[in-house]
Amino acid sequence: GAGRDLAGLRVLVSTGGTREPIDPVRFLGNRSSGRQGVAVALAAAQRGAAVTLVAAHTDEGVLATVSGQRHIALERVSTARELEEAMHTRAALSDVIVMAAAVADYRPVEVSSHKLSKEAAGDGVRSLDLAVTPDILRALVADRANGQTIVGFAAETPQNGETLVDRGRRKAARKGVDLLAVNEVGWSQGFESEANALTIIDRAGAVLNDVSGTKRQVADALWDAIVVTRSR
Ligand code: C5P
Repeated sequence: GAGRDLAGLRVLVSTGGTREPIDPVRFLGNRSSGRQGVAVALAAAQRGAAVTLVAAHTDEGVLATVSGQRHIALERVSTARELEEAMHTRAALSDVIVMAAAVADYRPVEVSSHKLSKEAAGDGVRSLDLAVTPDILRALVADRANGQTIVGFAAETPQNGETLVDRGRRKAARKGVDLLAVNEVGWSQGFESEANALTIIDRAGAVLNDVSGTKRQVADALWDAIVVTRSR
């Protein structure tokens, strides 16, 4: 075990999937269960860190594992906008930020105050205008405090012959994060399950670790990589 090697560190973790309302009963969401981010928060607390967990929609059973943890303060949010505000409020006082939340890239331009009726155009197709949401991670990097370590996640499906690692390298550089945890996802992979596989890439594009196991084991490997990165 790593003991209490994170003692004294203030850690901010986001998890879960945001929901962007369409009308009072519908939203745009995603399949994130929040499990991996919760595992990252639990591992940090066990290793001595003071943790704030900002949870967008997270499986209730998973979230229950956090309640009663003295060293984890939980804040629940719903939309990308709420998540952004919660992260910005706490970022300056954090030594390490881990953005494990699955943030919606788009939100409906207009939120209807009443339940939308089923009327579609004559061709049976109906469209919804979407606006891009702010990239929270990039903004955190732009405002990075001295000595702060910022970690992103990237859920990727293999495509166009480009490897996951290559996609991860480009993303790590584009976002300016210290570490990027690349997670292969698919219809039957990466979501809800207890197991996960991550490739951890640093800012220069070097692969620090290729780890698979339970989400908790993967979380501990991520903290190991964060500790190494901070000591360099
Ligand atoms: O570009 P992509 O969505 O794959 O990047 C994933 C990373 O960026 C994750 O760490 C996610 O939490 C973060 N993100 C964000 N704001 C967005 C979209 C993604 O902070 N609007």
